Amino acid sequence: MDLQLARLPVLERYKLLVGLVIPRPIGWVSTWNENGVANCAPFSFFNAISEEPPLCILSFNLRSDGAMKHTLKNIHRTGEYVVNLADEVTANAMHISSYEIPETESEFAKTGLTPVPATMVKHPRIGEAAASLECKVERCIEFGPERELVIGEILLIHAREGIIDPVSKRISEEHYHPIGRLFASRYCTTRERFDLPGELP
Ligand SMILES: Cc1cc2nc3c(=O)[nH]c(=O)nc-3n(C[C@H](O)[C@H](O)[C@H](O)COP(=O)(O)O)c2cc1C
Repeated sequence: MDLQLARLPVLERYKLLVGLVIPRPIGWVSTWNENGVANCAPFSFFNAISEEPPLCILSFNLRSDGAMKHTLKNIHRTGEYVVNLADEVTANAMHISSYEIPETESEFAKTGLTPVPATMVKHPRIGEAAASLECKVERCIEFGPERELVIGEILLIHAREGIIDPVSKRISEEHYHPIGRLFASRYCTTRERFDLPGELP
């Protein structure tokens, strides 16, 4: 089957892309709004894209009423944000934090999450998250009125005790159980892993 995307309705393109390009990592972004309300929301059009410079990318569309996502508004205002990485124990809170709520209410309060001061940026990290990437905006790229990409420079990584070996900097498979986004409310774990034979250069 061949499908030319230009000939498909936008919703069908979305369904195809989020069904095929799986699993996607989840960037769970935390910010303060201008009135000091702690916001967090998940974004799975997300990835780490470079280590030199250390960069990650997020992709935003609009809220259902056509307004800019609160997260993006807070990123524009401050040029900073925190991307937290969701794992099995925080999956439920992450999912609930995606519900659209008014800007005066906090997803942290709704889900029982703890906003903890970050080290290098003015936004909070999610205290319960497995790991958090403190980022400053490197550049924003708009694609029409409904899509904006934010590329961020990762300034600092914070991780829950036991996840990063302090000497080798290896990530512990035993202690880090990230989840991936499939589509809609469907997720996957990363528990089944395998090695292929052969040395990589
Ligand atoms: C797992 C998951 C991934 C999501 N990925 C994205 C995404 O990549 N881009 C986006 O604009 N919205 C995405 N959303 C929807 C946002 O989380 C949702 O619009 C949220 O209410 C935004 O909150 P805010 O307005 O407080 O920023 C995703 C939702 C879920 C559950």
